[in-house]
Amino acid sequence: MENLLREKIEKPMVQLSYKYAMDLVQARLGLINADLTEKYHRQVIRNMSSRIKTADSIIKKLKKKEREVTFETAVETLNDIAGIRVICYFCDDIYQVAEAVRRQKDFTILKEKDYVKNPKRSGYQSIHLIVGVPVTYNDATKEVRVEIQIRSFAMDYWAELDTQMCYKKDAGQILNVERETKDYSDVIAKVDNKMLELRKRIEKM
Ligand code: GTP
Ligand code: MG
Repeated sequence: MENLLREKIEKPMVQLSYKYAMDLVQARLGLINADLTEKYHRQVIRNMSSRIKTADSIIKKLKKKEREVTFETAVETLNDIAGIRVICYFCDDIYQVAEAVRRQKDFTILKEKDYVKNPKRSGYQSIHLIVGVPVTYNDATKEVRVEIQIRSFAMDYWAELDTQMCYKKDAGQILNVERETKDYSDVIAKVDNKMLELRKRIEKM
């Protein structure tokens, strides 16, 4: 089962279809950044990164979610085989970017999660959009899903350290680390909001 999944997911036509959709979304986010930068006279997106989930990681996730370890289940049920992370400077920028993504008429918004308004129990904050992108080859058009994670520079700092220390690790449960990192996420959110207030005061001058 596993080897068959691996073989199928690693096929160039499959990998390149995901890459095609992901690159298209990332290019569009570049336009969104240029547009917002012109509108607000400052950089809105700090940086972006993208990745395609490895076969190993796909297999691990399917097992964890107790799903069938097949290529079909992976493609049908996993929304983050192709993923883009967008890091913005300020915490209000992420809503501007998300709104601009929603306006793209060739993208279908399949799912949205606002972990900024409702942070995860861990303290994780981000906006997640699952977008469906049409990929045409010959006479067929397929919808390929791409996960976009949008967060502020400060939220990303927290998430990166959390990934290293707790997320998907047992350390989270030990030593009360979970409670402590949750507290720091609240501190970071406060600083993020203070910086936003400061920017707004400067803009008024
Ligand atoms: P996954 O099975 O982990 O992908 O979760 P999901 O399918 O329920 O989606 P969800 O929106 O909860 O999370 C998707 C992605 O968000 C993860 O793959 C991580 O990149 C990120 N994420 C979610 N929760 C946390 C967290 O507590 N800490 C960190 N560092 N990242 C998180
Ligand atoms: Mg994921």
